[in-house]
Amino acid sequence: PSVLKHRLAVLIGVIGGSGLYHLDNLTFIKHVNPETPWGFPSSPITICALPSGTRVAFLARHGTGHSIAPSAVPARANIAALKALGVRAVLAFSAVGSLREDIRPGDVVLPAQIIDRTKGVRPASFFEGTGVVAHAAFGDPFAARLVRWLEGRVRAVLAEEAARVQRETGRPDAGPRVHADKCVVCMEGPQFSTRAESQMYRAWGGDIINMSVLPEAKLAREAELSYALIATATDYDSWRPHEDAVTAAEVFKTLQENARISRHVAATVLEELNAAAADGELLAGEVGAMQYSIMPRS
Ligand code: ADE
Repeated sequence: PSVLKHRLAVLIGVIGGSGLYHLDNLTFIKHVNPETPWGFPSSPITICALPSGTRVAFLARHGTGHSIAPSAVPARANIAALKALGVRAVLAFSAVGSLREDIRPGDVVLPAQIIDRTKGVRPASFFEGTGVVAHAAFGDPFAARLVRWLEGRVRAVLAEEAARVQRETGRPDAGPRVHADKCVVCMEGPQFSTRAESQMYRAWGGDIINMSVLPEAKLAREAELSYALIATATDYDSWRPHEDAVTAAEVFKTLQENARISRHVAATVLEELNAAAADGELLAGEVGAMQYSIMPRS
């Protein structure tokens, strides 16, 4: 209950992943650091205003100095803190490895499905230890209407960006591309996958791989928040037989440029999202999602 004193008129939360520790073109309003029943979030949350005055809450998933490993991210506190601020839609950014040739480092992916390789390791439910048994529907792990809407906007923003890069380089296939309806494998780190695992994830139907979308997406569903992942590819993981396996150095190399693209996408999309969400329909799919998920006691 003490977190509720932080309640603000903030409809949209942004979770920044590796490389994305702040947003562009926003006016700083204040930092808040709500203590939730699951502890404090990864970092104090920055409340900032878009040019129209619309407020956005920004949270760095790994802490502002990237000090929190994927397995140690306090995801329950992060989602509970955003919910306590009044957030309804969460745009989560994440660096990912690519499991497909046509998803190139620098490309942006809006996944529709998840394969969970973190099960049993990370606390993944708000109901754990409460005596209440709840089974959230998770067949469609992302907020479908929000993702559809985002896809159109992200495609428009990145088409302009790609055209600029193509003009500058003279290469007609240069610049970031957008991929939708993909499947993200969420693995337990901190080590990257073996070559055999990387091959196996491809055989399972995985298109990209990260260490962070879970339990975040599960908790957002339990909190009835509309959650979408905007993933940026940094590497080809370890499945390509004649190429080096992924290293942290390779990931860092693309991180900075990817973060610039993510900030550019966020700056354009956030203002439009706030307007698009105003009629209630866009974020309606997740409201009441838990209504029939709690097991009645006999
Ligand atoms: N994040 C970025 N690249 C990754 C990879 N190859 N595996 C897991 N997480 C990642």
